[in-house]
Amino acid sequence: MMSSRVALALLIAAAALAASQAAIAQTAISPPGRLLASNCFQCHGTNGKGPGFDKLAGKSARKLFKEMKDYQAGKEGDGIMARHAMGYSDAQLRELCQWLSQQRR
Ligand code: HEC
Repeated sequence: MMSSRVALALLIAAAALAASQAAIAQTAISPPGRLLASNCFQCHGTNGKGPGFDKLAGKSARKLFKEMKDYQAGKEGDGIMARHAMGYSDAQLRELCQWLSQQRR
């Protein structure tokens, strides 16, 4: 007969496995570009489609990236966007700009 301690250990292992599988499934639903871009949604609308400030959805990835780099460099003032852009690495910007460019307007 299985001791209750072994049974408990198996139960915990099964719960941990279920939790990690749920985490993997979530990651599969939300691509990394969307997770990074989700920071933009509060001001530019969910998925960058507005309402709010300028729509970002469907803009060219190259143009978005350049705008973000200009904000980072302080070429477009030191407003909200400049501060915001500073939080991202180039790789993260490429990823999120790519994702935004693929969204329908
Ligand atoms: C706290 C609000 C806020 C957040 C969050 C925010 N933005 Fe902005 N964004 C603005 C405002 C305000 C403007 C317009 C004024 C300006 O240029 O500073 C703007 C302008 C822009 C522009 C220029 C649009 C154009 O056509 O000239 C781009 C590109 C942009 N944001 C991208 C982003 C991206 C990408 C993110 C997420 C990483 C983001 N923004 C997050 C407020 C925000």
